[in-house]
Amino acid sequence: MGKSLVIAIDGPAAAGKGTIAARLAEHFHLPYLDTGLLYRAIGRIMADRGFDLDDAEFAAQIAMALDPEDLNDPRLRGHEAGELASRVAVHPPVRAALVEMQRTFAARDPGAVLDGRDIGTVICPDAKVKIFVTASPEVRARRRTDELNAKGREVAYETILGEIRERDARDSGRTTAPLKPAADAVILDTSALDREGAFEAAVGIVQAGLA
Ligand code: DC
Repeated sequence: MGKSLVIAIDGPAAAGKGTIAARLAEHFHLPYLDTGLLYRAIGRIMADRGFDLDDAEFAAQIAMALDPEDLNDPRLRGHEAGELASRVAVHPPVRAALVEMQRTFAARDPGAVLDGRDIGTVICPDAKVKIFVTASPEVRARRRTDELNAKGREVAYETILGEIRERDARDSGRTTAPLKPAADAVILDTSALDREGAFEAAVGIVQAGLA
């Protein structure tokens, strides 16, 4: 690996890890892979074609045939795609189909930033820096609700909080690659931080990891 710098960012939905990961990638001049997009694309394709999200074998076939073009669908950024992603992400053959592609991305020089749920634990256990970005369910639900309302979508805070709790339970409770901090991850709780504060804290963690 030489001087290659791999930064693994994991954490629950709506904790701010995507923003932090993208900004770290820019700051340290590294390519960035949002691994949630892979699961989102699979969930979206399954739903669009009317397939059963619980069909592990079928979902794995979609995963194996995934095309980079499939990741450009603007609907993938939305809340609904996140729910679909979480459903297909429980299937071990789906996860297995995506491992090599993610590791290949991480292995390139000069390194990479990857964000997801199992980057520090399964995909890149040797990552130089691992950050587990989290925030209380209430804070995450508030941020997500404000974000959706700002886009003109009327959603109730209580509904979003319920969905976040459900997603946390599904992502953390699955048997394969559950959401959890790696033993050597630094926990970054963004509950009391704004975007800028969270980013600065993350840069500090990376610099400490490099020292
Ligand atoms: O990070 P995100 O919100 O885009 O992820 C959507 C869902 O995809 C998440 O609830 C669980 C799943 N996921 C996963 O299981 N493993 C990853 N590395 C990334 C996402």
